[in-house]
Amino acid sequence: MSTAKPLGIDVGGSGIKGAPVDLENGAFAQERLKIETPEVSTPEAVCEVIAQIVDRFDEVHDGSPIGVTIPGVVRHGVVKTAANIDKSWIECEIEKLLEDRLQHDVVVVNDADAAGVGELSFGAARGQDGLVILTTLGTGIGTAVINRGVLVPNSELGHLEIDGVDAETVTASSAKTREGLSYEEWAKRLQRYYRYLEDLLWPDLIVVGGGVSRKAEKYLPHLELRTPIVPATLENAAGIIGAAVLATQTQEERGRHLD
Ligand code: BGC
Repeated sequence: MSTAKPLGIDVGGSGIKGAPVDLENGAFAQERLKIETPEVSTPEAVCEVIAQIVDRFDEVHDGSPIGVTIPGVVRHGVVKTAANIDKSWIECEIEKLLEDRLQHDVVVVNDADAAGVGELSFGAARGQDGLVILTTLGTGIGTAVINRGVLVPNSELGHLEIDGVDAETVTASSAKTREGLSYEEWAKRLQRYYRYLEDLLWPDLIVVGGGVSRKAEKYLPHLELRTPIVPATLENAAGIIGAAVLATQTQEERGRHLD
């Protein structure tokens, strides 16, 4: 059997992180590598960093598919929005750019979508039937909507307008830090947000991801919702793992397989 593994890469504001993933157990097959995001983070500059990451892993062979996450909407390989990244990403044909540069099958997906697929495959939502919503609380709010194992991509529910305001601007964990809110004060905003979300979509499970999921015991107990709400378990690895899962699925759908 081949040892070629899919590679997951998470492009964030401060770092670009990657690791080959073992899809038997959802663990990293080699230690994760992190390289700082270039100061001018244009798609071309980020592509060069991704190429360096690909080169560093001997588990990544010719046939390995590569999944890349970015914090924006990606439709059919083309970036459509860039709320918290360089605006030069908009309309970039990122999948083609990366495939030409790397000579691998590449799938580029929204960061929250990848994290949702990661949590569904190996984390807090594993085995969950019905409708799962994952939210990532960070600089912005990312969301993944997954119904019976099928991802509805680019849901962008972090930008729901609540009380006339784009929800992420007052509810993301960056808003907590910026405004110096206590966990209890922040929980009031989370309550408003998650109640709105459950009233619109009636999910079976809500998973809370992002770095702040590690501190879930400080704010989740304050929430009164009808939907079970749990912290993500894969933490920062969810995006990398989900991207690797999606890259493999897409490669199989396209009729190509690992050597
Ligand atoms: C973007 C989403 C992204 C989220 C988390 C939002 O501002 O619109 O696409 O998933 O931030 O990075």
